[in-house]
Amino acid sequence: MVRRFDDQVVVVAGAGSGIGAATAHRLASEGARVVVGDIDAGKAEKVAALITGSGGSATPVPYDQGDEASIGALIEAALVTYGGVDCLHANAADMDVVGDDGDAADVSLEVFQRTIDVDLRGYMLLTRHVVPPMLERGRGSIVYTSSGAAFAGEAERVCYAMAKAGVNALMRHVASKWGKNGIRANSVAPGLVLTNGVRESLPEAFRESVLRRQRSPRLGDPGDVAAAVAYLLSADAEWVVGQVLSVDGGVTMR
Ligand SMILES: NC(=O)c1ccc[n+]([C@@H]2O[C@H](COP(=O)([O-])OP(=O)(O)OC[C@H]3O[C@@H](n4cnc5c(N)ncnc54)[C@H](O)[C@@H]3O)[C@@H](O)[C@H]2O)c1
Repeated sequence: MVRRFDDQVVVVAGAGSGIGAATAHRLASEGARVVVGDIDAGKAEKVAALITGSGGSATPVPYDQGDEASIGALIEAALVTYGGVDCLHANAADMDVVGDDGDAADVSLEVFQRTIDVDLRGYMLLTRHVVPPMLERGRGSIVYTSSGAAFAGEAERVCYAMAKAGVNALMRHVASKWGKNGIRANSVAPGLVLTNGVRESLPEAFRESVLRRQRSPRLGDPGDVAAAVAYLLSADAEWVVGQVLSVDGGVTMR
């Protein structure tokens, strides 16, 4: 395994399970010191313990992406523990509220508000808190987890799709505003990824319909997205700026 992150400090926001946990493990295996942020303190501790148990460096930090003070404390924890932040993977989304999402005519405004608060405002606030220390260092790399839902035009999940489309707009703003200061920003847009949560809840018919629509013979694994995030965060992607990388087995082609 190449070690592209030796001595680098990476904050993974939403690293307790699924894609974020896979990214935390991947980056740690490449030498990063990882701040494992998650609303579920137990899950964050478990991921950090697995990393340190296999010789890596990680610190669990519970935080709520719906709360600005808590987001500030997450970034502050990286500064206090490791002395700076080189990379951010802004990844958490409230996947529970997606189940109550719907269409623009009927969805409750509480669901809309919660989705926007965590999945969009939270990313904006993570950006607001992480950019100043990155500017101080004169470098930084940020990857936001968007979704194929941002451009699929689905008849459902309007709040989720709006938040994820907004994340891509935020990413392009960050890339434009601070690119010349050495801060790069990109997004990954996963397709259907078989996290444990998805495996437990996914109806067989839906799994088959996604498999039919994509070009790859298999569905996605969290490690597929983690590999793309690691690439985008790393110096290998130094000239990749302001992009949305679809990691979806070829559902979308542009
Ligand atoms: N799994 C997929 O098929 C898929 C597809 C496209 C995009 N995504 C995106 O990937 C990202 C990760 O999703 P996942 O599938 O790995 O889900 P997941 O539920 O396994 O992981 C999300 C993590 O975020 C944490 N979290 C939730 N609310 C939080 C909050 N308010 N503050 C801090 N942490 C919070 C959860 O505890 C969990 O550990 C999300 O942004 C999601 O929208 C997932």
